[in-house]
Amino acid sequence: MTPTQNEVKTTPLDAEIEARVDTLLEQMTLGEKIGQMTQVEKNSIKKGDIAKYGIGSILSGGGGNPEPNTPQNWRDMVNGFIEESLESRMGIPLIYGSDCVHGHNNCVGATIFPHNVGLGAAGDVELVEKIAAATAQEMMATGVRWNFAPAVSLPLDLRWGRSYEGFSQDPAMISEMAAAYVRGLIGGDMTTGVLPSVKHFVGDGAASWGSSTRITAEQWEMIENDPTLANAKVGEHMMDLLKIGAWQIDQGVSDIDEETLRREHLPPYAATIAEGTMNIMVSYSSWGGLKMHAQKYLLTDVLKGEMGFNGFLVTDWEAIDQIDEDFYTAVVACINAGIDMNMVPFDYMRYINTLTEAVGKGDVPMSRINDAVRRILRTKIMMGVFENPICDTPLLVVGSAEHRALAREAVRKSMTCLKNEGALPFAKDSAGLLIAGEHADNVGLQCGGWTIEWMGGPGAITPGTTILEGIRDQVGETAEIVYDENGNFGDVKVETAFVVVGEEPYAEGMGDRSDLHLPQSQVDMIRRVRKNCNKLVVMVLSGRPIIISDWADDVDGLIAGWLPGTEGDGVADVLFGDHDFNGVLRYTWPRSMEQIPLGTDDGQEPQFLPGAGLK
Ligand code: GLC
Repeated sequence: MTPTQNEVKTTPLDAEIEARVDTLLEQMTLGEKIGQMTQVEKNSIKKGDIAKYGIGSILSGGGGNPEPNTPQNWRDMVNGFIEESLESRMGIPLIYGSDCVHGHNNCVGATIFPHNVGLGAAGDVELVEKIAAATAQEMMATGVRWNFAPAVSLPLDLRWGRSYEGFSQDPAMISEMAAAYVRGLIGGDMTTGVLPSVKHFVGDGAASWGSSTRITAEQWEMIENDPTLANAKVGEHMMDLLKIGAWQIDQGVSDIDEETLRREHLPPYAATIAEGTMNIMVSYSSWGGLKMHAQKYLLTDVLKGEMGFNGFLVTDWEAIDQIDEDFYTAVVACINAGIDMNMVPFDYMRYINTLTEAVGKGDVPMSRINDAVRRILRTKIMMGVFENPICDTPLLVVGSAEHRALAREAVRKSMTCLKNEGALPFAKDSAGLLIAGEHADNVGLQCGGWTIEWMGGPGAITPGTTILEGIRDQVGETAEIVYDENGNFGDVKVETAFVVVGEEPYAEGMGDRSDLHLPQSQVDMIRRVRKNCNKLVVMVLSGRPIIISDWADDVDGLIAGWLPGTEGDGVADVLFGDHDFNGVLRYTWPRSMEQIPLGTDDGQEPQFLPGAGLK
C-alpha cells in the first residue's frame, strides 16, 4: 500500500437501482448495449440513428452551438436529441454533454465566470460551490445534463495551454475546490442537478515539454485538415501557433513515478468520488509507457478497484484513435482497459461495428460490455433521466442578474494585487485617469478560451461588461477618464494611469507556448504610458503567470486579473476601494523561462511565491 492510498468514500450501491439495471441489461441486445457506450458530436449524428442504435449520449465539442446561438435554440436542439432517444426500442434517455467549464460557456447570453485559475486565487470554497450550482441551473434550462468539468489538473509546466483550467499547484486545494464544484453541480442527489465529469484522469498536468505527439508542423502541412482542428476553424493560424509552441506539451508524457502520481495527482479524484461524481474523463496523456486510455492498471485496478469508483469512464475526444494505427486494436485495448463510453465523436458506425466485431471474436468479453453499460445505466438512473428526461426549467435563469452578481463577486475576489507602491486604490474623483490596452475593453479577451467558440476569441462575443465599462459605471460621473487602446496619450501628465495587458484566448494544446513574455507591443505600451503618469498600475489578464521581469520593476502597482469572464465590473470594485483586494497566488510565478517547469532552479528567486497577494 503506498502511503498516499486514500480510503475513498464511494457512493454505496443502491439495491433498487442495481435491480433496475439488471432488468434493463437482460432486455438489451448487444447492439443496444454498445449504443449506450457511444457518444457522438451533435453535427455528426444522422437523423434516426439515435433511435436506431440507442445512442447513449450526444455532445457539443468546444463551439458546438446551434445557429443562431441562443438559450432557446440550445434547449430545442438538446431536447430534440433526447426525444429521439425516447423513441428507441428500449427508450433509454440520452444525456447531452458540453464543456461548461466556466459557466454554460458555449451558450451566448450565459453567465461566464472566472476560469479556475481565478477561482483558486479567490480561495472561496463556498463561492465555487455556488458558481457550480448556478452553472448547473443555466445548463439544465437548455437540457444539458452532463458537464465536462471540473478539471482537477495540477499544472506543473506553465507553458501548458490548459494551466488556467487548474485551480492551484497545491493538490489539497485542488481537491477542496473540485469537491465543492462537484457538490454544486450535483445539487443534492443529482436528480435536480447535472453529472460532473472530473478530468483528465490522471496526471494530465504533469506532461513534459516536447513530449506531445498530437500534431507537428510537418503533419499539418501534409494532411488535408485534422477534422477536429478543422472543426475549430484554426486553419489559417495553425502554422503560426505551431511555431510558437502549440501542441508541444498538451497530451504529452507524464514521466512521474507512481509515488508522485498517487501523492500529487490522485487525491482530487478521491475527493470528488467521495462527493458522488459518477463520471471521470480519461486523459490523452501517457504514463508508464502507455497512453492513459489503454492503462488498465490505473483505470481498472486503481480507480475502479482500489478507489472503488462505481461510475463510468468516458474517453476524451477521438482519443481511442490515438492508441493504435489499427482501430480494431485500439478499441479492444481501451475497452478492456476500462473505458466505458467512447467520445467517438465523428464516425460512430465505425466504432459500433468494430466493438461488435471484437465482442463476436471474444477479444472483448461480454462481461466487460455488461460492466460498462451497468455503470452508464446506474448513473442515468441516479440522474433521474428516466423519470424526467426533458428539462424545462425557466430559460430566464440563463445569464440572470443573480448569476451575474455572483460572477461579479467572483471577479472581485479573484483579483490578486502583487504590488502596490501608493498607487491603489484609485481616487474616484481622479482629475485624469488614463486607461490603455485592448484587454481593458474587450469581453472576449477577458473571458479567455472555452467561450462561445472552442478557443474563445476577441470582441463582444457574448453579453457582458468590459473592465472599462465597469470603471465608467462606477466613476464616470466623478472622474475624468481617458481611454486609448494603444496607450497613445501624447505629452499628457496625470497622477494615475491603468494599463491592461494579457494573453490572447486559447484552449488546450493550441495554448502551449514556448515563451511566456508579453508581446513586445504590450511592453512598449507600458513604457509609453509610464511617461504620462506619476503612478502606473498594470493589470495582466492571463491564464497563467507570465514572465514580467522585463518591466515589473518600472510600475507602481501590479494586479493579476486572470481570466475574469463576462462581469468585468468586478474589477472596478477593487480598483476604487469599494472592496479590498482578496486574491492570493496559488501558483509559483516564475521570474524567467529558465524557472519552468515548477521547481526548476536557475539560481534566482521566483518573481512571486504561492501565497503572495496584498489585501
Ligand atoms: C477536448 C478536451 C476535453 C473536453 C472534450 C470535449 O479535447 O480535452 O477537456 O471535455 O474534448 O470537448
